[in-house]
Amino acid sequence: MQKRSLIPCSFLLFVAAIGTIAGSSGAVAQDVAQSIDRRPWMNPQLSPEDRADLVLKQLTLDEKIALLHGNGMAHDANWQAPLTPLTNGGAGYVEGEKRLGIPSLVISDAAYGVRDSGANGRYATAMPSSLGAASSWDAESACEYGALIGSELRAQGFNMTLGGGVDLAREPKDGRTFEYAGEDPLLAGTIVGNLMKCEQAQHVVGDIKHYAMNDQETGRNFVNAIISKRGMQESDLLAFHIAISIANPAAVMCSYNRVNGDYACENSYLLHDVLKGQWGFKGFVDSDWGGTHSTEKASAAGLDQEQPMSNFFGAKLREAVDAGRVPLSEIDDHVRRVLYAEFLSGVVDDPPQKSVVDVEKGFEVAERVEENSIVLLKNRQSVLPIVPARVHSIAIIGGHADVGMISGGGSAQVDPPGGNAILPPGKGATHWQDHIWFPTSPLLALRAKLPHTKIDFDPGTDMDSAVKLARSSDLAIVFAYQWESEGMDLANLSLPDNQDALIEKVAAANSRTIVVLETGSAVTMPWLDKVAGVVEAWYAGSSGHKALANVLVGDVNPSGKLAITFPKSEQDLPHAAIPPPPPHLRGQGSAPVNEDAPPSNYAVHYDEGAEVGYKWFQAERKTPLFPFGFGLSYTTFAYSALSIDSAAKTVRFTVRNTGTRAGTEIAEVYATLPKGSDETFQHLEGFARLAGFARIALDPGKSETVTVAIDPRVLQTYDETASSWNLAPGDYGIFAGPSSDHLPLSGSLQVR
Ligand code: BGC
Repeated sequence: MQKRSLIPCSFLLFVAAIGTIAGSSGAVAQDVAQSIDRRPWMNPQLSPEDRADLVLKQLTLDEKIALLHGNGMAHDANWQAPLTPLTNGGAGYVEGEKRLGIPSLVISDAAYGVRDSGANGRYATAMPSSLGAASSWDAESACEYGALIGSELRAQGFNMTLGGGVDLAREPKDGRTFEYAGEDPLLAGTIVGNLMKCEQAQHVVGDIKHYAMNDQETGRNFVNAIISKRGMQESDLLAFHIAISIANPAAVMCSYNRVNGDYACENSYLLHDVLKGQWGFKGFVDSDWGGTHSTEKASAAGLDQEQPMSNFFGAKLREAVDAGRVPLSEIDDHVRRVLYAEFLSGVVDDPPQKSVVDVEKGFEVAERVEENSIVLLKNRQSVLPIVPARVHSIAIIGGHADVGMISGGGSAQVDPPGGNAILPPGKGATHWQDHIWFPTSPLLALRAKLPHTKIDFDPGTDMDSAVKLARSSDLAIVFAYQWESEGMDLANLSLPDNQDALIEKVAAANSRTIVVLETGSAVTMPWLDKVAGVVEAWYAGSSGHKALANVLVGDVNPSGKLAITFPKSEQDLPHAAIPPPPPHLRGQGSAPVNEDAPPSNYAVHYDEGAEVGYKWFQAERKTPLFPFGFGLSYTTFAYSALSIDSAAKTVRFTVRNTGTRAGTEIAEVYATLPKGSDETFQHLEGFARLAGFARIALDPGKSETVTVAIDPRVLQTYDETASSWNLAPGDYGIFAGPSSDHLPLSGSLQVR
């Protein structure tokens, strides 16, 4: 993806001015010379650090403090301030310093596309959900994803994004699972890191969130996530670290919840010790919206900017400085970080210009990413792809497939063009936590692909009618959905609205029944043995219907693999149910925290530590419904010839396409730790860690030998007492293959 050129407007002006001076009269030359921006911090040859330092010296205390808080949120009645109209309809606004050429931050949510555009009369592309994109295991898709969102943010006049969710899917019932990139630190960190790197390269301030352990929405404003340092370092924090080291984001958003007692936005361990200390993060930390709880404590812990208001980092911060309770050096550190972020991301030199969003390009990128992300979970007797010569009639049942496909809600919500597609025309406005359907009809897309096949639709609301249609068709495809949103969690992983029963009935009527899932997280499938095929399409985005139709008819060979374990039952998870908050605090899950509320001792105990997802299933010796890393193709692949270079920490092996179609294989490499050679882990872990992966496109009969680098960070263990990482000497088990539960190649890597 092309990086935008970083030649500042002021610098171009300078070049133009020189030309003009050369050929003009003295008076004109003088006028032009006066307009040349000679301010030293405008010199793009200097480092962002140096430029930030130069500006810092020019600022008064009030000007500094203005950079450390928001000024409201466009669509929230509780969060209005005098400058809120300047948010451009977005999530926030930070007043810059015009006097010095420092632009204001105009901030929008943009988890899978620019939020709230419809309400402002604008258009935005919806990309597939982040969990969907993670299923591509493809850094290039992630980069295209981020670059597209970055360019649409700019076209809409924003210069800062709130996206980049990288909390691990520790709790698959988390209502924001679709906004995150799955359960493995290496995969999630790689996907979100590349997404944000390319988004920020469009010259928007990149932001990675929600730091940290924001793994459920229930009671999110007060829940205390309790976890050992080792457990969090080797799981959720590792995902953040990998993402941050790839993206070098200008900002990190701290989360609402507490971690081991302290709110994440005033948690000195998370912000000061780990993020800024251990990882050397140089950008700024902004609080989640309403997630700031104090002035002095938060400032000392490392919060740099309160959002979206100035309850703690406005007048109170000024007072604290005047009274000597907050040292000026601390303020300077916060301000330097905000300025550094602006220079680093390019928003000073290349401010956004409002323009028309390239709709066609958005469709194209969204389709390609979705095609790489769809996961084929079951394909009995090659029921897929659909062969028109053999399939003369298809019953499409349920899931509003005649009209569109569902999307994820909350602050991630992208507005569909024309409003909610399942509502009558003119009534399509979107609201916080509505089920929003995009006008992307799989029925119409399939009809376009198969013009000579009879394709009928039944809404699935009357079982008898659905069964009748299924029985009289050669093939039945049931569309099933699981809707998710910020501010709520799923009670369980069952498909809602009686869809399991519908699938059972249709499958009983037609042995060639395929289920297409549009889900935000994993789902249970009590009917799995009875259906012939299962396709996971996730929240499929603006071109989801086309990508899906391409996969169903075989124009695209599916290649995605699960970034999250699908359990047989919630009982197999570390937490079968999310513990309910105490009665007096229920219903406050997503509301701004009530400062007068009695202190809460509501906690979740993450005793599973780093055993998240497949690691838990392996350690507990439980068999999931579908394992992490699993996904089928219309062709087959064989693995051979593993060799390991211990010094270089690389693994080489050969993958061959043994089928008759071209296809892409995601090859996965896992590692196990050496036996008890290090006293930090007396217990040998009961799981293998994902250590590397590669996507390999192969024509039929062709093979390729790939070299996969092992990321040393995933081989290390964290020593809590010494606060350090160890790479234990010994023999590490190395395994390669198509899925976490099927690793035909094995060898060992020696660390001396
Ligand atoms: C969410 C953030 C979001 C912010 C601004 C919060 O409720 O947790 O993810 O960026 O609102 O909309």
